[in-house]
Amino acid sequence: MDELLNDAARRAQTYLDGLEDRAVAPSGEALAALSELAGPWVDQGFDQSVDQGADAASILAKLDRLGGPATMASAGPRYFGFVTGGSLPIALAANWLASAWDQNAFSTVSSPLAASLEIACLGWLREIFGLPETAGGAFVTGATMANFTGLAAARHAVLAKVGWDVEQDGLFGAPPITILVGDEGHAALLKAVRMLGLGEARVQRLAVDDQGAIRADALPAISGPTILCLQAGNVNSGAFDPADQLIPAAQAQGAWVHVDGAFGIWAKAAPKRAALAAGYELADSLAVDGHKWLNVPYDSGIALVRDPSALRAAMSITAAYLPLGEVREPYDFTPECSRRMRGADMWAALAFLGQGGLADLVERCCRHAAMMAKGLEASGYDVLNQVELNQVLVSFGDDATTERVIAGVQADGTAWCGGTRWNVAGQGRGHGRAARAAMRISFSSHATKDADVVKSLEAILRVAGANSTG
Ligand SMILES: Cc1ncc(COP(=O)(O)O)c(C=O)c1O
Repeated sequence: MDELLNDAARRAQTYLDGLEDRAVAPSGEALAALSELAGPWVDQGFDQSVDQGADAASILAKLDRLGGPATMASAGPRYFGFVTGGSLPIALAANWLASAWDQNAFSTVSSPLAASLEIACLGWLREIFGLPETAGGAFVTGATMANFTGLAAARHAVLAKVGWDVEQDGLFGAPPITILVGDEGHAALLKAVRMLGLGEARVQRLAVDDQGAIRADALPAISGPTILCLQAGNVNSGAFDPADQLIPAAQAQGAWVHVDGAFGIWAKAAPKRAALAAGYELADSLAVDGHKWLNVPYDSGIALVRDPSALRAAMSITAAYLPLGEVREPYDFTPECSRRMRGADMWAALAFLGQGGLADLVERCCRHAAMMAKGLEASGYDVLNQVELNQVLVSFGDDATTERVIAGVQADGTAWCGGTRWNVAGQGRGHGRAARAAMRISFSSHATKDADVVKSLEAILRVAGANSTG
């Protein structure tokens, strides 16, 4: 055991040390070699009998030899794809320890430690996002499941209000629920809507402005069971829906307001950015990712719900209708029963960063986005969004040119940026406006330093220059 774990730690250290200098994307050769991992089980070449002492060291060596080079260097400083946080060293270390402990976070009996860490993290998260001390929460895999969890609580609450017990009677014959989502709502939120049987086609889309934020005047008159879904941080532009106006207006008319705050809601932790997220503390439910801007390892998300009894009614496997007890049983709040102990890495990250460190992490990423946008604009390229948060959208000309530049940057290997499509006319996805190809550059990692932004900008300009001159 000793040797094996030390060997794994050494290999991990060597891998992390190499991230600075390797190409961000894996090479074609490295990907082709992965076929060796997929050979028939019996041909893996190791003694598979535990009794006879399977050759664990060789297996680990093979995994490392083939796996390491085939990874995307998203733990490194110049990966800007999707919205991908790195892992703080402390969070990675805590994650290792937690894996060794192999706790089942299901209940206070299966792991009193996991249950305590969740309570500690919940307290800190409520403080960061401005939620009341009584708000409940669930530790899940990511924002998709956090959206699912928050919306399940919403579904329970809006139907209970009109006398329908959705957990017992299902949705067959239930009073219809109006779901309101901005035209730029994230696909993961709509997936959650589908998984809950609420029906994507029944969703009413709300018009957005040219940054993808719901227009303050787009809220229709609300009657009957209604869930308004807002977004704190558009995955492309980083834009925030105007929560300070929409939440009170919707709640006054009896709606439940759910917020998909996957990454953007962390703006609340940074004093200079907090105004962007004003009003979101009024949300009834909030979906947040840990593995994005908090920089804990995959996978980690949290659903926070103002009224814990709604969450518990939606998720409990037992006694959902008993009053909430003194003891918080984790299984009362999550979709899953058995789970890994996500509270350990989250507790360690939050404890390590503290208020100042978290503010600095968020602020630094926003500053890097501004640096990148300024450099691109200075070279004559079109930055398509107002860069107020951590996301930059840039076009290099017509769609074909932009796509060539994205592919070129990925092949160059200095940095990795993905592609997206962005509507610039400001009339919303449902209203037929044309979308334009864009490179999306997301700054979400503690590992990125100013020099990485400079080096990546140089690489992007080099590739773009080569493409525009043919
Ligand atoms: C706004 C928003 N919601 C939801 C998601 C899905 O998050 P996850 O992949 O962690 O489930 C993302 C991912 O980028 C996002 O940006």
